[in-house]
Amino acid sequence: MRQSIIVSALIASVAAQKGGGSIVSPYRKDDSGGSGPHKASYKADPALAKHTIYSPKTPPAEPMPLIVWGEGACANQGTAFVNLLTEIASHGYVIIANGPPGTPGSPMGSGSTTASMLTQSIDWVAKGGDGGKYGKIDMTRIGAAGQSCGGIEALTVTMSDPRIKATGMFNSGSFSTNPNISKVKNPIAYFLGGTGDIAYKNGLAEYKTIPATTPAILFNKDGAGHGGTYGEIQGGLFGKAGVAFFEYVFRNDTKAKSAIFDKSSPLIAGGFEIQTKGWK
Ligand SMILES: *[C@@H]1O[C@H](CO)[C@@H](O)[C@H](O)[C@H]1NC(C)=O
Ligand SMILES: *[C@@H]1O[C@H](CO)[C@@H](O)[C@H](O)[C@H]1NC(C)=O
Repeated sequence: MRQSIIVSALIASVAAQKGGGSIVSPYRKDDSGGSGPHKASYKADPALAKHTIYSPKTPPAEPMPLIVWGEGACANQGTAFVNLLTEIASHGYVIIANGPPGTPGSPMGSGSTTASMLTQSIDWVAKGGDGGKYGKIDMTRIGAAGQSCGGIEALTVTMSDPRIKATGMFNSGSFSTNPNISKVKNPIAYFLGGTGDIAYKNGLAEYKTIPATTPAILFNKDGAGHGGTYGEIQGGLFGKAGVAFFEYVFRNDTKAKSAIFDKSSPLIAGGFEIQTKGWK
């Protein structure tokens, strides 16, 4: 009940700003397939018809992490964040976004999605529904992420599903102190767009309530706003920050670690302010 009020409020506040390009920064068609080592693309799979699946076109031999994604506005449209998700997938990830493919970069879809659709994606892979078509998937490395309302979907499943080992909150945060926040034990990152981002206050406040023993990161780029840089080629700077978070958590990648923790980070050079806590 409370959750649905929060979600409705986010949909409403986002819908109120529709037309201002507020969910996704202006979309640029990106045929690069991502900057990672495995060019990626997305597909509609009739066996999971309410979702969109991003993966490397030629899967690597090694098992890949799985990320389930909730769209901004909880839109029932799996290609609103196509540049960002293709970018992450190109680093060797399978990503299942809520909603079937629609107009790339447009947040609009028919109807909306729920947090349980993220669980549905994980269950589908766990039962072998993917049939190995997208490459090998490592079920010990599952992330949940989403933008705005989709971030709330990701947080909701994180608090109840122990299979989820990392959480990405893109321009997102609960409207009031979440009573279940102590259930977040695994790494969580917030990606905010400065004071002009409608999620800034909530995201910042929620970051502060994350238990001290939980590894957490706050990326904030002043002036980016609620739409971040998702519509840019390869998701722009927010894309690079997303890749760094997942690559560090799931692959202990040295470059990713340095992008998060070092003063010489290219993310800081690009305009992010980065706070971290709870990391050993
Ligand atoms: C907190 O957890 C309880 C029990 O799982 C659940 O009923 C409630 O909706 C959750 N509250 C929020 C705000 O997520
Ligand atoms: C992560 O990589 C560092 C080197 O950058 C290494 O010292 C550390 O043991 C690794 N941690 C794990 C859990 O593999």
